[in-house]
Amino acid sequence: MREGTIWPALAEYWHPVAISEEVGEKPLAVRLLDERVALCRLGGRVRAFHDLCIHRGTPISLGWIEGETVVCAYHGWAYGADGRCVRIPSIPPEHPIPKKACLMAYPAQERYGLVWVCLSDEPRAPIPELPALEDPSHRVVVFDQRSWKCSAARAIENFVDFGHFAWIHEGILGDRDHPRMPDVPVERDGEELRFGFTNLPDRIHPVPHTRNYRLVRPFSIYQWKDEGDGKRETLSFVCTPVSADECIRFLLITRNYDLDATQEDGTENFVDLIAEQDRVIVENQRPEELPLDLSEELHLRGPDSIALAYRRFMRELGVE
Ligand code: FES
Ligand code: FE
Repeated sequence: MREGTIWPALAEYWHPVAISEEVGEKPLAVRLLDERVALCRLGGRVRAFHDLCIHRGTPISLGWIEGETVVCAYHGWAYGADGRCVRIPSIPPEHPIPKKACLMAYPAQERYGLVWVCLSDEPRAPIPELPALEDPSHRVVVFDQRSWKCSAARAIENFVDFGHFAWIHEGILGDRDHPRMPDVPVERDGEELRFGFTNLPDRIHPVPHTRNYRLVRPFSIYQWKDEGDGKRETLSFVCTPVSADECIRFLLITRNYDLDATQEDGTENFVDLIAEQDRVIVENQRPEELPLDLSEELHLRGPDSIALAYRRFMRELGVE
């Protein structure tokens, strides 16, 4: 069993497909689980449609917005916010519009500055809670979006694979003279896995510090680190499954201190460096899809405990 087996279940979750600001005056084409989706702002809200005009299979994203409608570029059919066709220019106005003349609409919502879409009318879970992104005492200091040629699950697993820090991120996040991994117990709470990772003192981290994690199924991670004196830094990491071997990674870092510090504090360069070090590995892992069969690949009890819990967690989605 691999990630592909659970696509029907993944289609029932919310996924971020764009940054809110990208959806403006023109329809925007995006892809989610190989579905082509058009995003439009109609009736004051973001709408998501299957990106296909029912007339002749033209992507509606090639069209434009006119008033409260989205107009197909090929023959000018206009569709309203609910997806129903309201105008067919080639027939007289008294001629009824066929009932079937509709765009298929998907649930769409804006949250955290992102547009979230669910490919099912009955989402199986709400949009993940990423509280710092709605906390006025926090400021987003990094908003990083990048496309990787890998599965979303491989990217998520990489984010919580602490055993690679000393190897891929030697001298930055880890120290090869101290490659031992602390045992990380993982707790399950409904749609979440919770765990904490404490860096043992090493050359990079002379003082141990703990990062706490909530991994929300399927592809969101919320991490927070307390620095003492009420200072807190959080990371929200969400991966969107574009295709079996393509994902978009959104990484938002917030702080509730040093709010005036500019981006020149190097955080962005740091994020870029770490991401590039990871990308080379993760894009080349095979098979592309995360194996959900635990007999595939070799797991170590202890160092791979989070990956094991995640694979089991995701595997459930294929055996319901
Ligand atoms: Fe869209 Fe004809 S294909 S109006
Ligand atoms: Fe890494």
